[in-house]
Amino acid sequence: YKRPIRKVSISKSLIQDVSALLEQHLDEKHTSAEQITQNPTNIPANSVFNPLPERFPVSNHVVQMRSRLLQEKQQAWRGSPEGQKMMALRASLPAYKQRESLLESVANNQVLVVSGETGCGKTTQLPQYILETEIEAGRGGSCSIICTQPRRISAMSVAERVAAERGELLGESVGYKVRLEGTRGRDTRLLFCTTGILLRRLLVDPSLSGVTHVIVDEIHERGMNEDFLLIVLKDILPRRPDLRIILMSATLNAELFSNYFNSAPTCHIPGFTYPVKAHFLEDILDLTGHRLTELNQIDDYGDSKSWKMQKQLNNRKRKTSVNSLVENAMSGMSFEQCNFSTRSSLSRWDPEGLGFNLIQALLCHICRKERPGAVLVFMTGWEEIAALKDKLLSNPLLGDPNQVLILPCHGGMSSSEQKLIFNHPPPNVRKIVLATNMAETSITINDVVFVIDCGKAKETSYDALNNTPCLLPTWISKASARQRRGRAGRVQPGEAYHIYPKPVFDAFIDYQQPELHRVPLQSLCLQIKSLNLGSIEGFLSKAMQPPDSLSVKNAIHLLKIIGALDDNEELTHLGRHLSTLPVEPTIGKMLVMGSIFGCLEPVLTIAAGLSLRDPFVSPFDKRDMADRKRFDFGVSCCSDHIAYVNAYNAWRQAKVQGNAMDFCWENFLSSQTLEAMHSLRKQFRELIKEAGFLSSDIFVNEDQTSSEFLGGIICSGLFPRVAAILPPKNNVVHFKTVEDGEVLLNQNSVLAKMKSIPQPWLVFHEKVKTGIVILRDATGISDTMLLLFGGQLNRGSKQGHIIMANGLEFFMSSNLARLILELRTELDRLLQRKM
Ligand code: CDP
Ligand code: MG
Repeated sequence: YKRPIRKVSISKSLIQDVSALLEQHLDEKHTSAEQITQNPTNIPANSVFNPLPERFPVSNHVVQMRSRLLQEKQQAWRGSPEGQKMMALRASLPAYKQRESLLESVANNQVLVVSGETGCGKTTQLPQYILETEIEAGRGGSCSIICTQPRRISAMSVAERVAAERGELLGESVGYKVRLEGTRGRDTRLLFCTTGILLRRLLVDPSLSGVTHVIVDEIHERGMNEDFLLIVLKDILPRRPDLRIILMSATLNAELFSNYFNSAPTCHIPGFTYPVKAHFLEDILDLTGHRLTELNQIDDYGDSKSWKMQKQLNNRKRKTSVNSLVENAMSGMSFEQCNFSTRSSLSRWDPEGLGFNLIQALLCHICRKERPGAVLVFMTGWEEIAALKDKLLSNPLLGDPNQVLILPCHGGMSSSEQKLIFNHPPPNVRKIVLATNMAETSITINDVVFVIDCGKAKETSYDALNNTPCLLPTWISKASARQRRGRAGRVQPGEAYHIYPKPVFDAFIDYQQPELHRVPLQSLCLQIKSLNLGSIEGFLSKAMQPPDSLSVKNAIHLLKIIGALDDNEELTHLGRHLSTLPVEPTIGKMLVMGSIFGCLEPVLTIAAGLSLRDPFVSPFDKRDMADRKRFDFGVSCCSDHIAYVNAYNAWRQAKVQGNAMDFCWENFLSSQTLEAMHSLRKQFRELIKEAGFLSSDIFVNEDQTSSEFLGGIICSGLFPRVAAILPPKNNVVHFKTVEDGEVLLNQNSVLAKMKSIPQPWLVFHEKVKTGIVILRDATGISDTMLLLFGGQLNRGSKQGHIIMANGLEFFMSSNLARLILELRTELDRLLQRKM
């Protein structure tokens, strides 16, 4: 460990400012501290985390009455003409043939694993069968069936569909609950909710008392929340012998889940699909008349300014990406064996580059030459979808614009938008659905005949080197590719176009890696502690496929460093807050601190910027000009992060004045990324409000906050990613971190262009190792800010000696050291009162 040691000079007035702010907040939070004592569960009273409706003790008589009413209503619907039509429709689904045997298995086994082809009726039918049976048996008043979905949009749309199939409105016997929204009523007996909502319920109701059935849907996706929920459910089973658990999967690897639950019985619903012909890149190039070399030069991004910039950026990458991709694939290396640099070159094969052109070419081919039928295009994210949609709307090769209907389908759309996807288009109109991997299993569009598969999906991946999560397009698994292909065969034989070479497909992994193995575990660790599930390591070792113990240790270590866990691995006050925010703890900490110190607005922008890609675009031949713009936005604050804030604010203003497009063009900004930042900011604001950190009366005018404070808040989130700024050697500033020694700053960083940096430290977002370590996105900060907002502090052996959680040491006057430690204690008290 090399420990840069430096003397500290802190201005008295700044410390007074901090203490004043702390004081102010301590007073303001007094009232809510009183409320908390009346709320024994320690959950903020206004929190939406409060789970399902209160189950007031109801007399037996009332329960019986409700059961009878439900029974009568159900019978009436079944007797009605519309009801009979609906029953007939439902009876045509493959699941119906197994209705009785499914119900029998549910009745006789505590755990049942159900697998079945997408669209066979798992999600809409099985929970409904259980509900119908309970109602028929006169238990309608007392049953409580919960079906979890990995995505908000599926919870909402499935609930709506099931209610309609029962001839009801949402909120009668069927309801839904997702974060910040929900419709359910006193009589709601079947609730569709996100997995996260059920996990929140466990906070106040660890045995799920009153719940009769838990159905965990889409378990094949191996989402972190679902894997986590399974560990908890397995734990609850012995305590709740009457509880029924049903796991539903779209793929055939049911034994894995069955084994986990002591050989629980499995049940497969065979579905029928027509054969689908698979085309890989090699055939597609023939089909669309392209040659691989030509594709490198395709120039059809049109004349939109930002696309031209994007294109130039991609052009450079494209040549290397195609070549290395094909080379790698041909050399027969399995994807897992690819080393880091190969993998990053593979990941450049993105739909915005080569893939984007191919998709357009294919769509033109289908529209002009192929038989009727809807097209489903799998893309990586809504930004790409929006861009392609714009592009297609102005592409003359697609034919008469009135004869194509382009519909986006992704997790961010409303459920009314989603309904459009299921509609059959008018005759002679080609429906083209641009979807994320959501349409892979959780949504079934029946009239699809053509599938275009870009081969990628955006997934959070964890780069152990940086210890930072990133949402990157990564190659899908063989199972996913087959699943996508299968979407084309619902109504007649179909065609699937995989726009990557066959050898690339052969190199895909068989099944998606569990998310538990791909993402940093910090949030999960906090959740384990907040649910009182014992030791983190002990708990995670009970997972179906336990995560690597090194990444568990890493996560615990980081949580200790940022002050979310104490030395005994128990939650600190900060940790408790962070466990209620569904974002990475580092982003969460920044948001919490930002709201306490009255500078939430800029912090929201920074948090959104860190979660998305860089809003600045730098075209190859205009890089200097682009970097100069970034520099202008950030130089006064000595920060890349605050450059985002200034650029975002200026963009908002330009938008009001109606010249946002020109503004983006002139300043080398991507309006799409800025739009995405804008919507993510809104979500972050909601979350922080929901966690009880934001109410209009405690909102401090942001003008009160100096940019120095903002640096501190940024540090609170980015710590321990700190580097010391060394004095310039030969006119070049040098940087050093505790772990890596000397490091460099990314060329386009604002700080890299400064002749001298008036701050002793910088905090950074990311580091990349390419021989030498390069830091990305940095903000210069003072000693004070580092000491006040960095991780836990410890007293050193001598007077005035402070040691930071990451090993940095400081020497100062003993008075100053005492003051700093007092301020930190005060801050902790503030967080405690916030509970
Ligand atoms: O869950 P699984 O993939 O097995 O199927 P499902 O979601 O229960 O869908 C069964 C059938 O209902 C499919 O044919 C869907 O197209 C249809 N469905 C629908 O028409 N509208 C919805 N909102 C949901 C499903
Ligand atoms: Mg389903």
